Amino acid sequence: MTDDGDGAIEARLSDREYVRPPAKFVGQANVSDPTVYDRFDEFPDGFEEYAELLDWDEPWDEVFDGSNPPFFEWFTGGKLNVSHNCIDRHLPERKNETALLWEGEDGDTQRISYLDLYREVNEMAAALRSIGVEEDDVVTLHLPMLPALPITMLACARIGAPHSEVFAGFSASALADRIDDAGSNVVVTVDGYYRRGDLLNHKQKADEAIEEADTDVDTLLVWSRHGADHLHEDVSLVEGRDVLVEELLDEHRRERVDPVSRDAEDPLFLMYTSGTTGAPKGCQHRTGGYLAYAAGTSKYVLDIKPEDTYWCAADIGWITGHSYIVYGPLALGTTSVMREGAPDHPHRGIVWEVAEKYDVDVFHTSPTAVRMFMKWGEEIPAEYDFDFRHLTTVGEPIQPEAWWWYHEHIGRGDAVIVDTWWQTETGGHLITNLPALADMKPGSAGKPAPGIQPAIYDDAGEPMDPGTGEAGNLVIERPWPGMLQTVYGDDERFIATYWERFSDTDSDDWTDWTYEAGDGAVQEEDGYFRILGRLDDVMNVAGHRLGTMELESAVAEVDDVAEAAVAARRDEQKGEVPDVYVTVRDGVEEGETVRERIVAAIEAEIGAFARPANVVFVDDLPKTRSGKIMRRLLENISNDDELGNTTTLRDPSVPERIREQVHGD
Ligand code: WT7
Repeated sequence: MTDDGDGAIEARLSDREYVRPPAKFVGQANVSDPTVYDRFDEFPDGFEEYAELLDWDEPWDEVFDGSNPPFFEWFTGGKLNVSHNCIDRHLPERKNETALLWEGEDGDTQRISYLDLYREVNEMAAALRSIGVEEDDVVTLHLPMLPALPITMLACARIGAPHSEVFAGFSASALADRIDDAGSNVVVTVDGYYRRGDLLNHKQKADEAIEEADTDVDTLLVWSRHGADHLHEDVSLVEGRDVLVEELLDEHRRERVDPVSRDAEDPLFLMYTSGTTGAPKGCQHRTGGYLAYAAGTSKYVLDIKPEDTYWCAADIGWITGHSYIVYGPLALGTTSVMREGAPDHPHRGIVWEVAEKYDVDVFHTSPTAVRMFMKWGEEIPAEYDFDFRHLTTVGEPIQPEAWWWYHEHIGRGDAVIVDTWWQTETGGHLITNLPALADMKPGSAGKPAPGIQPAIYDDAGEPMDPGTGEAGNLVIERPWPGMLQTVYGDDERFIATYWERFSDTDSDDWTDWTYEAGDGAVQEEDGYFRILGRLDDVMNVAGHRLGTMELESAVAEVDDVAEAAVAARRDEQKGEVPDVYVTVRDGVEEGETVRERIVAAIEAEIGAFARPANVVFVDDLPKTRSGKIMRRLLENISNDDELGNTTTLRDPSVPERIREQVHGD
């Protein structure tokens, strides 16, 4: 009886959490017919609906080939070119429409029409060919948020050379690792870019990376932020290796390069992401399935229309920018905004100023950014006259408080808010509501995207019933076209990381293979998924994945350090931040100097965005009898949570001592 009573109350409470999409939105939505879910449940043929959004040089023979799991193939036999799909095919109708609107941090702007983009991408494709880039050569890019980045990506796609863009915030060493893993002989960078008012010397990182890399980089292509005649004053060129892009382009003005017809399964790009062990993994994405999925979800989930102005305020250096600044939106022929620099420079209203200026319809950002805007205060957005019909969040769970703030102060009560769960590996959204078809629920990522079959498994691999409130492992039971093909050059790691745990790896039947996302989640009674966060030693800092191991190896580079362990601390702003616990070598004095060396090592090995929140000097780290560091206990300490089980420790008093040191008693 009591149980029934409680249950009823709970149901009522959760009912109240639903927020209806405004009728005004539903009336104009790209998808408002609920049969879409049934269509996509016709596996695999449902996904043809996405592929049909594209121009194919040759149609596919088979939608899905699952004969060699987990190396699934999509739209096999089909041929297409991504640059043609994102540019050329729009020209007859929309050549003078804007493809990219670029905002420089210094106030400089560029409006790039589809025709401009066509010219620039053709010239860059010709330039790449002229320095010897051939089909299937992987070109590594280390470019910030400048038009040079999408132009270079699309030029690579035009000639069938997979690109591997490394986020500009990554250090020289991180870039070197990625150049080596991809085996790139050609690297593309820029002399500098603006960040909080400073024109950074960016090329220096490529110089150092090439020095450090084992791979022979024959050519470093250097774009210039202010034109080839106004290079950053601290940048110099290496004779015989460095080529100024603008000068090279001058030799290829008005050249046209036929888009290379690529097999649907040919790789389009690599995107490296942190894992639990070793070097970052190069997630390899295919041409046909990826573009179909990015375009399809841009249309169905983001509700993008060709006449919209759409702004995803992520960085193209991460997967969000690849799928939802460049490929998806341009495949749909819309106007995509991109901005250089920091969201608080030159002032805290700049994001809203830009949104007002361009009359942005659809705006896309991370919960970290929402929390930051919230902290800055609602008076700031209140000063601007923007009008969004659709707001997206991505990258981390959004707390109901931040959700409501976003809804009220940015959506002004009449925009839909769409939380999108996905990963570098998945190519596009997997759990998210189609905004006209499902009520919003603050704090919940929502329902599966069309055709996607997520589930929650317990640690033994048994499916868990929805509605129990219990958390488990988030898995995806059925393949989808946007999924990664493999880990570049390492099929075994691909299987070990994503498949081994919940699949019957001896089976040739694809239905025996289940994708492990690495996240903990709960499925509610109504079918909505609530994502809790990573279950592995990977933290989520401001919506970006950072591997504990990578941080620890960076710290281990410091001679003064004997041992180091990294723990994730909850942070109101960034979601999580790294705390570093270290023991120093005999004779080394703990203190500011060593701390600075540790921070410098992290900046050098990974990048400034990975800087730790705290460096804690300890006498000993909590270890099991076999010598394994118990990071969980450090995490408990960092978060001032109850200490977990310490009985298996070699010295059970260690964590308590550290706790006292960090928090007092
Ligand atoms: C991890 C993937 C592709 C998105 C950008 C990050 C977390 C992502 C959500 C969300 C809760 C989320 C997960 C996931 N995550 N979106 N809507 N709600 N958590 O891509 O660097 O590959 O990280 O980000 O933990 O596994 P990524």
